[in-house]
This record gives sequence, C-alpha cells and structure tokens, in this order.
Amino acid sequence: MGASRYRPPLFSVAPMMEWTDNHYRTLARLISKHAWLYTEMLAAETIVYQKGNLDKFLAYSPEQHPIVLQIGGSKLENLAKATELASAYNYDEINFNCGCPSQRVAGHGCFGVRLMLDPKFVGEAMSVIAANTNVPVSVKCRIGVDDHDSYNELCDFIYKVSNLSPTRHFIIHSRKALLNGISPADNRRIPPLKYEFYYALLRDFPDLTFTINGGINSVVEVNAALRGGAHGVMVGRAAYHYPWQTLGHVDTAIYGAPSSGITRREILQQYQEYGDSVLGRDGNNRPNVRDVAKPLLNLFHSEPGNGLWKRKADSAFMHCTTMKSFFEETLVAIPDSVLDAPIAGGVPSGREDLFANVHDLMPPPCNVREEEALYA
Ligand SMILES: Cc1cc2nc3c(=O)[nH]c(=O)nc-3n(C[C@H](O)[C@H](O)[C@H](O)COP(=O)(O)O)c2cc1C
Repeated sequence: MGASRYRPPLFSVAPMMEWTDNHYRTLARLISKHAWLYTEMLAAETIVYQKGNLDKFLAYSPEQHPIVLQIGGSKLENLAKATELASAYNYDEINFNCGCPSQRVAGHGCFGVRLMLDPKFVGEAMSVIAANTNVPVSVKCRIGVDDHDSYNELCDFIYKVSNLSPTRHFIIHSRKALLNGISPADNRRIPPLKYEFYYALLRDFPDLTFTINGGINSVVEVNAALRGGAHGVMVGRAAYHYPWQTLGHVDTAIYGAPSSGITRREILQQYQEYGDSVLGRDGNNRPNVRDVAKPLLNLFHSEPGNGLWKRKADSAFMHCTTMKSFFEETLVAIPDSVLDAPIAGGVPSGREDLFANVHDLMPPPCNVREEEALYA
C-alpha cells in the first residue's frame, strides 16, 4: 500500500501482553467489526527460533482482519527474518514496539522503550522491517524516557525515524516511561499524560500520521480526540475491562455503521464454537477452558448477576472440559434480559472535555534541524 494512500485506523485496540491473544481478539471481533486489533508483542527472536512452530504464535482466523502484528527486538537480522517469516500470515500492518518499559524486556539489551534513546537504530530497524514486508509499518512509542522527556527530544526521535525509514505512522502513548524499576503497571499510571505533546506532533509533522493512546476510556473520549484532530485513537485497558461498553459502540458511534443488533447470547454462541474448536490444540491440555474463557469474564461488567457468574465460572474451571458445559453451568447466573439485550442505543458517558485545554498547553514548535538530526 503506498504511503500516500495510507490511513491509520480510526479506532484500534492496543497490543497487550497476555491479554490481546487469539481468544480476546476473537471476542473483540464478534463485538466490533471495524476496530483494528493489535496482537500482543511478539519478540523477533521467538519468531526466528520457533520457525517450525509458527502457527502457534502467528496464526489467527481471517475474521480478525484488520489486524496488526506487533514485534519487539533489538537485532536487525532477527527483525528482518521475523518480518519475512510473518509475511506468510498476511497481517495488515507491522508495528514495532518502542514503548515497553518492562524490566524483563528492557533488561534484554536495548529493547522496548529504551530504543527511543537511539532513534538512528530505530530508523534502521524500521527500514529492515519495511524491506521484508509489503504492508505498512508503524512505531509505537512513549513521549520520552526518564529525563529525556522534552518535546524537542520527542521530535528528534520522530524526525530521525521517519527520515531514515518508510515509517509514516506513529502511535504515541502520551506519557513518558520511567526506567527506575517501577512496575510496568505503575509505568502506565504514574507518569502524567501529556496529550498536548501528541497534538503538537500533528501540528509539527503534517506529512505523518499519529494515533493517540493512553488513558482514553470510552467512545465519547475517542470521539473527543478525533474532533480535536487526532488521526486515530488506540484504547487498551478500557477495551479489555469493559468490552461491551467500549467495543460495543465502536462501529456505530465511531464508524457510523448501522447497529448490528447483536446480543451477548449470540456472541457467546459463536464464541462457544470457537472455544470448543481450539481447546487442547497446543497439547498438554492447553488452552484449557480457563484460558479460553478468560476474556469473557469482563463481558457482564456492572450487570446484574455478574458477581455470581464469576463465582460460578471459578468453580466450573475446576471440572468443565468443554465450553458448552462451561456455559451451561455458569450462564444461569445472568438474567435473560441481559443476555438478550442488544447493545444499548446511547453511548456510555465519558469526559467530553478530556482534550479541551490541549491547545493552550502545546509546547512551541520544535526546532529539529535537518543536519543536526541526521548527523548527530
Ligand atoms: C496487560 C498489559 C500489557 C501490555 N502489553 C503491551 C505490549 O505488548 N506492547 C505494547 O506496545 N504495549 C503494551 N501495553 C501498553 C498498552 O498497549 C497501552 O499503551 C497502555 O495500556 C495505555 O493505553 P490505555 O490507557 O488505553 O490502557 C500493555 C498494557 C497492559 C495493560
């Protein structure tokens, strides 16, 4: 796809390790036909070393399109090889992780968010990734790392990466990362969100496309970001914790599609078929009913019967060996009125004014100069 025709997804579900696996993505796709889905991050080394076992890591059902593979790594050779191996799986975009602060990842040489300190390397990495795929490539990053958190440093990163590679799409998790040992969860909570940096990038790099991410919790807030000029919005935790309340409104409220009228009973009927077809597929009884049911546990968030359904699920995990028997045993906790209700017409409330003051807070235009940026 040529860069000039490239449009980033209006709405995407963020890559989340151990959350956005095949099971979650299957559920997400049953709820929203339009949301773009990102995989969990997959290390380039895993793809390269598991060459004989790639389906386990890379296969997905065609309904999951549009779907983006996120890879991580710090060795050009492995990134090139991993991208080439992944090509057979027809992902719609390849995304490179430059935002993960985990010690597990960050400790493995220069990997994840630490790469933001080496934009030249990221430019080279994106070049080799792009050279081994014919789909668009993108970078997911933070707005800074530790004390390297000025707007000019962020611009320098974007400038170098976009000049040294065909990258035209950046996903900006709008808070910096702290590499001082705080947990990944705290790194998604403690550093303050600075949406004004994201909007300043839109102003200063008009030829690039940017997706905003971080702390956006409802469709109302997604639309507020888009009204403010965002090219695309990525939502992580809210799409996982409240799938019905967020994904349920994406097609209608963001993409303007007519309501599908689908109910949770219908979704679970389809999910049951999927679940029973994958149980035990990886050997050693994995995935088991607990693995497959995990993303469903948030489907009835704040509905009557939710607490009882979770307790029943806990005990059903002990002995159920099929999704059919799991549902028979647990769904009695949920009233028919909940199971049979289509997605409600009104969009759940959210902070309409989340981006109201970003234009007042925007930093001055960046002054990355070409020679400085490319030859520093
Ligand atoms: C459990 C979990 C795992 C995550 N794993 C990844 C990952 O593999 N790659 C990545 O780029 N970001 C990862 N993230 C960060 C999210 O993609 C996203 O940037 C972050 O949660 C902020 O968005 P939110 O406020 O909408 O959740 C993860 C987040 C969570 C909660």
